[in-house]
Amino acid sequence: MFQLTRSVTWQALQRLYRETENDRIRDYFAADPKRFEKMSLRVGGLFLDYSKHQISDTVLAKLLELADHSALVQRRAQMFSGDIINVTEDRPVLHTALRNVSDQPVYHADGKDVMPEIHRSWEQIHRFSDAVRNGEWTGHSGQRIRDVVNIGIGGSDLGPNMACRALLNQRHPELNFHFVSNVDGTHIQKVLKGLDPATTLFIVSTKTFSTQETLLNARTARRWFLENAGDDADIGAHFVAASTNRKAATEFGIREENIFEFWAWVGGRYSMWSSIGLPIALAIGFDGFMDMLRGAHEMDRHFLEAPNAENMPVLMALIGIWYINFVGAETHAIVPYDQALNQLPSFLQQLDMESNGKSVDIFGHPVNYKTGPIVWGQTGSNGQHAFFQLLHQGTRYVPIDFIASLKPEPGFEEHHFALLTNMLAQANAFMEGSQTGSRLDPYSCPGNRPSSTLLLDELTPRNLGALIALYEHKVFVQGVIWNINSFDQWGVELGKRIAGEISERIDTNVTDFDPSTQGLLHLLRDRFGDGEADDTSTAESSRNP
Ligand code: F6P
Repeated sequence: MFQLTRSVTWQALQRLYRETENDRIRDYFAADPKRFEKMSLRVGGLFLDYSKHQISDTVLAKLLELADHSALVQRRAQMFSGDIINVTEDRPVLHTALRNVSDQPVYHADGKDVMPEIHRSWEQIHRFSDAVRNGEWTGHSGQRIRDVVNIGIGGSDLGPNMACRALLNQRHPELNFHFVSNVDGTHIQKVLKGLDPATTLFIVSTKTFSTQETLLNARTARRWFLENAGDDADIGAHFVAASTNRKAATEFGIREENIFEFWAWVGGRYSMWSSIGLPIALAIGFDGFMDMLRGAHEMDRHFLEAPNAENMPVLMALIGIWYINFVGAETHAIVPYDQALNQLPSFLQQLDMESNGKSVDIFGHPVNYKTGPIVWGQTGSNGQHAFFQLLHQGTRYVPIDFIASLKPEPGFEEHHFALLTNMLAQANAFMEGSQTGSRLDPYSCPGNRPSSTLLLDELTPRNLGALIALYEHKVFVQGVIWNINSFDQWGVELGKRIAGEISERIDTNVTDFDPSTQGLLHLLRDRFGDGEADDTSTAESSRNP
């Protein structure tokens, strides 16, 4: 059986790391004045500078060989053509079909062209978003909608939340958007406070319509509406759903015609292009939503057609693999120098860590190499006053993606200039460091810390769509090279199951949980249970500390 770590290319990369681990990035520039031109790339409205990496020409060539020798061409073709590549859930992976603005069909593994139903979904989203935005759609008292509340979590929250935040300045001036995700009651309480039920629209966004947090929040929202505004007959004017589970949505009280369906072959973290993106269409209009899809489609075409050496997702994937599997970096920082992208790190956390946080390959064999990194981050310039100290002078090696848009908000050119010059300065400082004299004094920075810089011409729906598709395909390429299934998420099911067991048994004997959980449950029981503790001592101590 093929063993990735025993491949000639992998072992050559291990050797190359040993040969180059003490290289200075700045020396690569001194040796090749054309390095910036050679290691930068434009795709549509996105420009990637990947020259500030501790990657020599020889290393880059060998990384490209890793991609060439992988199953990338085959697995990519299988994904785009509807083959069942999500093998543990026995599903195709067709989020790319959701943004297929060409007139080409896309066939599901069962042989059916999925585009007609996708087009019907676009028509439904178009009609509905126009009606809400122009006031045709009114609440039960005849007033137009003023506030839209999306109730969802994970991929049913992070994508639309991130996009609505990113495109805030293009949002409908008379519509406000709110996102409720956490099961913590303070989240929905804070959002509902100050809303008028007569002019509020709830979107219950849940692929399965079975996620505990979303269902509890949706029930609370429905109760709030009924207690403060209308009755069951009015639910239909204030609640719609985006889901694959029509039956459960109907049982909740959503009118059939207000269920925005999508399909099992769309992964949650890849679903913002489907009706889960309904808040985006409401915020920026259907044309803006389609522009976002077009941008993603253009990145799809680039990913499909560009040779690996000029393929932005492939290059970003290989750079990540170099640091994860050969340099030994454990994390990857996302630092958007754009406050409108402040939700992007959270979105990319789920995209990357829920996709590639795996330890068995597609055959179920444990892998003997690192896979998905810990993805984290925060906007700049704030990060400069929070965690950049560790990045400059700490003992850890953290590759960074700097992301920004070139075009300022009108009237804020001075702010934007300061923002971008700070970003360039930080990237330079991370690479150059500040070594004074023959040895590192305590005030100096070692430097040689790598980063990519990704510049959007402007933060438009089209360029945002391309940016997200870029990272989707980067994650996909890494998953292919690691030979893992990037599209299931069985790890999160375990926690859900145990949460169910605990909540159902708070009042019964819980001795089959570990002692810590038992002790903590006794504390909860005093608060939530019937108070009848069993005879374990913990109960007493917790009651009389
Ligand atoms: O985090 C686990 C997960 O299943 C995600 O993949 C998904 O985006 C999220 O929960 C919400 O699931 P649903 O959309 O079915 O409520």
